[in-house]
Amino acid sequence: MSDETSSQHQVCIAGTGSYLPERVLTNADLEKIVETSDEWIFSRTGIRERRIAAEGEFTSHMASKAGAKALEQAGITADQVELIIVATITPDTLTPATACYVQQQLGAFGAVAFDISAACSGFLYAMKLAKRLISDGAFSNALIIGAEKLSTFINWEDRNTCVLFGDGAGAAVLRRAAPEEGSILATEMGTDGRLCHLIQIPGGGSALPITPENIGQHLASLTMMGKEVFKHAVNRMKESAEKVIERAGLKPEDIALVVPHQANLRIIDAIAERLSVPPERVFVNLQKYGNTSAAAVAIALDEANRSGAIKRGEHVVMVVFGAGLTWAAAAVRW
Ligand code: UT7
Repeated sequence: MSDETSSQHQVCIAGTGSYLPERVLTNADLEKIVETSDEWIFSRTGIRERRIAAEGEFTSHMASKAGAKALEQAGITADQVELIIVATITPDTLTPATACYVQQQLGAFGAVAFDISAACSGFLYAMKLAKRLISDGAFSNALIIGAEKLSTFINWEDRNTCVLFGDGAGAAVLRRAAPEEGSILATEMGTDGRLCHLIQIPGGGSALPITPENIGQHLASLTMMGKEVFKHAVNRMKESAEKVIERAGLKPEDIALVVPHQANLRIIDAIAERLSVPPERVFVNLQKYGNTSAAAVAIALDEANRSGAIKRGEHVVMVVFGAGLTWAAAAVRW
């Protein structure tokens, strides 16, 4: 789905931020919990360690900390924020939305706030939505956040999944761009609900409530058919990245940096190769944080931005993939 044509205002990314909890869980730590090895985890995924939120540290707390940093960099105060969208599959509560807690914690009481649930694709879903709402004139700025406390929804006895995921948050401030500023050039997103069974948290919702009888069965934990997901991830990410590159009028050599979803280094390498982008122009930080779902691309974007890996005027392509199945991409002139 694309909607670039009727934009009235150009929209830029005015600031980014991220927050990672302090506690580090290494592959060596996991060797003591399940039958696995640093060698297996690193060679199959590229992950060395991940962060785990403290007890009492919720998704909203991480989201607010990342959001505050993005606002500071954008030079926008909390009371000026008009829209907050939090992308998460690990909300503080089923209702109200995590974005409402974030509004409260930031003191952004003038903002409309809601969540979207699109798993690892959520941050770029939020970006497309916010971009459209700003370009149409409904809002003049938005704080979009990807935040996850996946450690709560992991079966720590399942080696197929517990080695893969981590906690964290990333954020960006979008606002109307002045003519000389960069802008979001093209966005793309897609969904295939026929494959919703490939990644799920099956229990804890209305379909399968947690009851005293089933409470020990880890039904509110994430399950994933990894091999199947892998194939779809490579194909869909490649296709959606190609679409935004073409729609933005770019060629692979014009792209200074690809910032992909951080799930598996083998997926990232396969996409880079298919897009003809050399590895040094692909941002990777999954060795430090694992897969943080909606937060992953947002954290990566912030690290790329703050480390100087992206410079003003350069072209950046973000591309993501996750449960749903969902996928999305965005091409930006920084
Ligand atoms: O963020 C949402 C999108 N998610 C993704 O993009 C994830 C996509 N999938 C993947 O990244 C990979 O499929 C995984 C990393 C999840 C798994 O890698 P794989 O190369 O597909 O391994 P596999 O699932 O086929 O498992 C291979 C073997 C199995 O043993 P057998 O059946 O061959 O004897 C597993 O039981 O590795 C075994 N295994 C492990 N061994 C040691 C699975 N997990 C572990 C583990 N440690 N943690």
